[in-house]
Amino acid sequence: MNAEFADRIKRLPPYLFAEIEKQIKVKKAAGVDLISLSIGDPDLPPPKFITDALKDEAANPKNHNYSFSQGEPDFRQAVTEWYKKRFHVDLAQDQVVALLGSKEGIANIARAFVNPGDRVLVPDPAYPVYANGSTILCDGVPVAMPLLEKNNFQPDFGALKPQKAKIMFLNYPNNPTATTVDKKFLAKAVEFAKNNNIILCYDNAYSEITFDGYRAPSILEIDDAMDVAIEFHSLSKTFNMTGDRIGFAVGNRQLVSGLTRVKSQIDSGPPVYTQKVAVKALGNYRSAEPPEFLRKNNQILAERRDLLADTLCDIGLQCEKPKATFYVWVNCNGNSMEFASKLLNVGVAVTPGIGFGKYGEGYARITFTQPKERIAEACERIRSLYK
Ligand SMILES: Cc1ncc(COP(=O)(O)O)c(C=O)c1O
Repeated sequence: MNAEFADRIKRLPPYLFAEIEKQIKVKKAAGVDLISLSIGDPDLPPPKFITDALKDEAANPKNHNYSFSQGEPDFRQAVTEWYKKRFHVDLAQDQVVALLGSKEGIANIARAFVNPGDRVLVPDPAYPVYANGSTILCDGVPVAMPLLEKNNFQPDFGALKPQKAKIMFLNYPNNPTATTVDKKFLAKAVEFAKNNNIILCYDNAYSEITFDGYRAPSILEIDDAMDVAIEFHSLSKTFNMTGDRIGFAVGNRQLVSGLTRVKSQIDSGPPVYTQKVAVKALGNYRSAEPPEFLRKNNQILAERRDLLADTLCDIGLQCEKPKATFYVWVNCNGNSMEFASKLLNVGVAVTPGIGFGKYGEGYARITFTQPKERIAEACERIRSLYK
């Protein structure tokens, strides 16, 4: 049989990491002790109260039936309470939908609102799912919003032509640039979306991975955001639970209900036991401040960040010390694929910026999701290239 891929699959851009992945395989096969600073998957474990809760909830036979597409009522209630504590935002349960990780929701939201040929504003560089899994797989047309260093890696709404776009994706704290924003920027985003009748999809997956006292805002804290916005969250990064696949989307009722309608035709809710664990995880917050587990987790990450960013600056590579996420976005002064290959030759894997979009060229993303000793070793290897 010669099964022909659908046109939308053919329209997906070439997988730019393939060449680097090939080189990584060759190095590993040759027995090189490779330090991977390329994947956004925390090496730190979930807190014990979560692994204990997972054991208990999974052992309960009642937690193995189908869940509702919108999620269990107690899960949605926990999300509303978390929003109240964390962001001082009031939500009703019907403004919450449970997700199998935020990636799934980001991909499925376009199915509810994007018709073939509709334009979708996507940041560039960006998490590739906005343009690919979401827009292109719904036959939409991604329109890049350049995130330039001179604009602090924020879209310039003044210069941006709305182009009758249906959706605009935004993500802060940002992957890959690690940029953070304040509420003034978010207010401009809401105003732009409102004035141009654009659905604002705000990806807040990294809101809890923050340092130096910075607290990431929710788009829903902004006046009028509830008219235009849906916000995506995840327990993946907050509680080091990437493999457990639990997240949620909240906000405007019509947007939440559109996403729920799509999901009800595609999947059932996340496993009930995972939702019950998430209730306990979110309940760990007593106020807007991070709970003890998160404070310790982020302290470990901040020490690694300091080591990595200080070394890169010391050897003359320009980067900001991020206030959030576990990424350093470094200016590599040229071709990002060549930079990544050069580092691979000394056994350090990083992600070339071009893989996140054309405006990512000239940069690389280096993650600090490895123990400090490994990051120290990686730093020495990178330093050896610049002596
Ligand atoms: C910006 C951003 N959004 C969303 C996700 C998806 O996370 P999850 O599906 O695990 O919630 C990721 C994962 O790396 C990400 O970097």
